[in-house]
Amino acid sequence: MTLRSVVTGVGSYLPKRVLSNQELSRQLDTSDEWIIERTGIRERRIAGKDEKTSDLAIAAAVEALAHAGRDAKDVDLVVVATTTPDLTFPATAARVQAALGIPAGAAFDIQAVCSGFVFALTTADNFLRLEQARCALVIGAETFSRIVDWEDRTTAVLFGDGAGAVVLEAQRGERGVLSTFIRTDGRMHDLLYVDGGPSQTQTTGKVRMSGNAVFRQAVEHISGAMLEACARAGVSIDQVDWFVPHQANQRILDGVARKLGVDVDKVVSTVAQHGNTSAASVPLALDVAVRDGRVKKGDMVLLEALGGGLTWGAVLLRM
Ligand code: UT7
Repeated sequence: MTLRSVVTGVGSYLPKRVLSNQELSRQLDTSDEWIIERTGIRERRIAGKDEKTSDLAIAAAVEALAHAGRDAKDVDLVVVATTTPDLTFPATAARVQAALGIPAGAAFDIQAVCSGFVFALTTADNFLRLEQARCALVIGAETFSRIVDWEDRTTAVLFGDGAGAVVLEAQRGERGVLSTFIRTDGRMHDLLYVDGGPSQTQTTGKVRMSGNAVFRQAVEHISGAMLEACARAGVSIDQVDWFVPHQANQRILDGVARKLGVDVDKVVSTVAQHGNTSAASVPLALDVAVRDGRVKKGDMVLLEALGGGLTWGAVLLRM
């Protein structure tokens, strides 16, 4: 039987503080109506002053380990997808590894912005199938609020903080990751970027986005990635039980579903409550759908995302 990377546990963490559209519209030239109509977002979570990305990641990881019935000593790989690391270095994954008391293996971060979790899962899957690790913690964690320009209404209303995690274990059988597909097109670098960094400006920088152009790329490339992931596994799109997309905009979710003829009831949406949590959004949405009983063991699930880079991709798996 084929060796596959099986999701054996899921977990997530959201900071306590809720920032509603109404509250935002008191500090910015925007409105609850505009935000809901153009994005579907109603509220987002904001990390506390002393809450770091690693704190969010650790909380999500603890929950995922408990769900999998695993202990930190079982883990031999930690991959954290984040664009908002605690520090420029070392990797946030190193802090997660130490805090959880994971004694073995490697821990590193992946930077693919909103596609980060799909890239991280693809990377961990390769390690597991090559038998270079047996049990991975794959985490998407962000304190995106720290790099948002709170005076720019075109981006400030979109993002939120949070973390999601999965335990991924190498097992022989029918369950697990069936196919992965990831892509980057660096020519679209300037459509979505941060205007600062250690080498260029020695600052952290703020998010800048050409929203309209990214929107068009998103529908196109996400649809393509989903079809490619299905084709690589010899599966048709209507055999997929659940779609767990990156939660950037409800209109993107609806546009992709329309383009591929997917029933919208099969698309997990958390965009209203979480906003866009970048690399955290896919594992957060997966956790929600597993815990509310929608996604069950044996279901075929398609994850997808697009983000800065531009980067995009999809992962097809049997839970
Ligand atoms: O996660 C990584 C990937 N990111 C994405 O996939 C995001 C993709 N883009 C989007 O989701 C959408 O493009 C946005 C939600 C960012 C913007 O929606 P849009 O329908 O593309 O709006 P727009 O940028 O074309 O702006 C329409 C109007 C503009 O006013 P004028 O020029 O028509 O007078 C904007 O200035 O809406 C205005 N506007 C706002 N008005 C009230 C922009 N932001 C706001 C706001 N409140 N927050």
